[in-house]
Amino acid sequence: MYRIAVLPGDGIGPEVTAQATRVLAAAGRRFGYEFCFQEGLIGGIAYDATGQPLPQATLDLCRSSDAVLLGAVGGPKWDNLPVHLRPEAGALLPLRKALNVYANLRPAMVFPALAQASTLKPEVVEGLDIVVVRELTGGLYFGEKRREEIPGGQRVVETLVYTTQEIQRVARRAFELARKRKKKLTSVDKANVLESSRLWREVVTDMAREYPDVEVNHMLVDNCAMQLVRNPKQFDVLLTENLFGDILSDEAAQLTGSLGMLPSASLGDGVGLYEPVHGSAPDIAGRQLANPIAAVLSGALMLRHSFGLEEAAAAIERAVATVLEQGYRTADIMEPGKHQVTTTEMGRLIAELVERGELV
Ligand code: IPM
Ligand code: MG
Repeated sequence: MYRIAVLPGDGIGPEVTAQATRVLAAAGRRFGYEFCFQEGLIGGIAYDATGQPLPQATLDLCRSSDAVLLGAVGGPKWDNLPVHLRPEAGALLPLRKALNVYANLRPAMVFPALAQASTLKPEVVEGLDIVVVRELTGGLYFGEKRREEIPGGQRVVETLVYTTQEIQRVARRAFELARKRKKKLTSVDKANVLESSRLWREVVTDMAREYPDVEVNHMLVDNCAMQLVRNPKQFDVLLTENLFGDILSDEAAQLTGSLGMLPSASLGDGVGLYEPVHGSAPDIAGRQLANPIAAVLSGALMLRHSFGLEEAAAAIERAVATVLEQGYRTADIMEPGKHQVTTTEMGRLIAELVERGELV
């Protein structure tokens, strides 16, 4: 039995995680695994209920589970709280830190049925399949910060800290992943300006000797941002520090047409955290308009990376591709001539295919 902590969170989080757990349960029935789902509070809804965006009970639940599925956190209602109580800075970032999930994998794949949905020309994105490996527990996000009053205004300090060991552990994940894929790793940095990037480059260069089968190149982040829209298919695995990875992964997401499609896996040496890349979308919450595919695919990543259930993970991914081929679309990816379905219907269609075991 696999114990999964489910943290639906705010906005569309509950709607999409409900479909992800439904699909996981269907995969369990099909392949003979038992998943036990236990819900916990996180984000604004947790603050409203307990006064804390990340209650201790939620942390305890996560630590005693085999993996964590998160929906999304945040919304305008909580934007004016002091920073440590806000859903993002007070819950999401501390949860990542507490679980020590230092390697964030964000695959950006273009489903054949959706090649037209990107704002880029179809020939630029067709068949795209890249993964951003983002360092998730260090860098500017977690460095010391302060503000000081000075004559004429304020002075602000943000600190960017990385140790050799922090770079090594995320780089190793990226090399291992590249080895299983097209054996091509692009390490992204700003080594022409930042000392942290120079250490980053040294560490990656040293590690490359252990992976002679992986082709490694180093690219400056500004150039990488440009190359991602110019010719994204030149990449396979992109490795980068926390803030650059945050920015580049949104850019990579847009190549696929909709942020509503992209899953993520955050891995450390213990419990893994799985969440859609999209946010809580408060404007469409509760209206059955959200696309549950990112959450469903995050469930597939959980089966693959935390439980080693490759066959079940692949079945979910194939079912998603099939449902799209069949012309079903949620509102965000709707095109003329397709069938628009609700969040729940999309989840049900995917779950049925997973359970029946239909192949593409
Ligand atoms: C992400 C998000 C978060 C981040 C925010 C909500 C703190 O943008 O997961 O990419 O910056 O890491
Ligand atoms: Mg982001």
